[in-house]
Amino acid sequence: MGNVDQNGKIPNNVDLAGDKRLQRALEHWLPLYMEWWNDMGPAGFQTNDIYLRTAVSVEAGGWANFDYVKMPEYRWGIFMTPTESENSIGFGDHLGKPVWQEIPGEYRGNLRRIIVTQADTEPASVEQQRFLGTIAPSLYDMRNLFQVNVEEGRHLWAMVYLLFRFFGKDGRDEAEELLCRRSGDEDKPRILNAFNEACDHWLSFFCFTHFTDRDGKFQLASLAESGFEPLARTCKFMLTEEAHHLFVGESGLDRIIKRSAELTRETDGDPISAGGISLEMIQRSINYWFTFSLDLFGGEISSNAANFFGEGLKGRFKEHSRYEDHVMKDGIKIIPQVVDGSVVEEEVPYRNAINEVLRDEYIDDCQRALRKWNRTLEKAGLETRLTLPSRRFHRHQGLYSDHSFDPEGNVITKDRYEANSGRWLLNSDDNDYLVSIMNQVIEPGKMANWISAPARGINGQPLEFEYVRL
Ligand SMILES: [Fe+2]
Ligand SMILES: [Fe+2]
Repeated sequence: MGNVDQNGKIPNNVDLAGDKRLQRALEHWLPLYMEWWNDMGPAGFQTNDIYLRTAVSVEAGGWANFDYVKMPEYRWGIFMTPTESENSIGFGDHLGKPVWQEIPGEYRGNLRRIIVTQADTEPASVEQQRFLGTIAPSLYDMRNLFQVNVEEGRHLWAMVYLLFRFFGKDGRDEAEELLCRRSGDEDKPRILNAFNEACDHWLSFFCFTHFTDRDGKFQLASLAESGFEPLARTCKFMLTEEAHHLFVGESGLDRIIKRSAELTRETDGDPISAGGISLEMIQRSINYWFTFSLDLFGGEISSNAANFFGEGLKGRFKEHSRYEDHVMKDGIKIIPQVVDGSVVEEEVPYRNAINEVLRDEYIDDCQRALRKWNRTLEKAGLETRLTLPSRRFHRHQGLYSDHSFDPEGNVITKDRYEANSGRWLLNSDDNDYLVSIMNQVIEPGKMANWISAPARGINGQPLEFEYVRL
């Protein structure tokens, strides 16, 4: 485990200097990455000083340094958490055997697929959020957006390192492809659906960082269990940064909900008349982004997922501390399915249902945030409550995508679904309205009218701090 090298072109703790060929290959990729960043990264603000944190170490305490940085000069580095003393495979058919430092030949294809799929989400989200800086509700929020963006860029570096280091020419080709696909592009879309959806205002941004980045948390956490140790350690460190992205989403939504509740009261139930966001719109946005994010977990019944688990490539969330049986050869899981037009519970071999096991954890975590937001509504004296729709509603992947459901999860006709989808899901009128109220606010400490101020600033700085120097 090398120490952090801050002096080279690419900061790292993977001893790049000790592998000149690999170092040269990554240094060759650097200008391609910068070209992508300049084309597809945040529109504007590239010459401004932004108060950003940069990963400079992997110590739990002081891993980040906060300072003013121009985004193109951000030090995107390659970091892995240190090796743990316990280094045997923690689940699946190889349970207890030593972890792999190199890729087992028979799992090369599956690992490549896992890494490329994760890698593709990182630049995708930067592309989706490209124009949000120009309509940021405050300097504080603008800074948080850019922090998320540069760290998603670093996550791309983390994955690209694995591709270059372990997959030879295939890995280099994949790394190039990662810079060629574009979010929402008809011909060269990003791999996963949610990463092709438009995110053109801040209600969607906060829903994205809350719901879609949260999928990332659960994917990274299950890859952090991997028997392929370089992947596990890479993902562990990414989770450290991801926590802030989730905070941005969850607290951002809480601030919108708080302000919407205030405006709802002040206007006798018509926050839109005061330039605010209605709770119905917030609910539709939750319905939209939550369900797109559910798709990211993959099919309810999946032989791929069973293989990834059995092969020791991808574990469960907190595999070690939450489960006793780490092999799960014979278990079953109940998965509700549609049979003859109604939902019935069917038994599925546990390993085949492992995507659903992770989706359960994700939904619980989302439910926790809903309870918190509902306390905000309660404190504001409102009776309205926000809810999570059923996992069957508005799905594009898996068992439920062939049927229509209402938000409660009841089977309905396609006609009924289509007649109601506009009041269940964020619609084009909502999007037009939301874009129309989002004017950039750049006076330090000031907030747009549709969102309340955060409880505190970043890194102990006051709210009035100049988070972005314009
Ligand atoms: Fe990420
Ligand atoms: Fe993220």
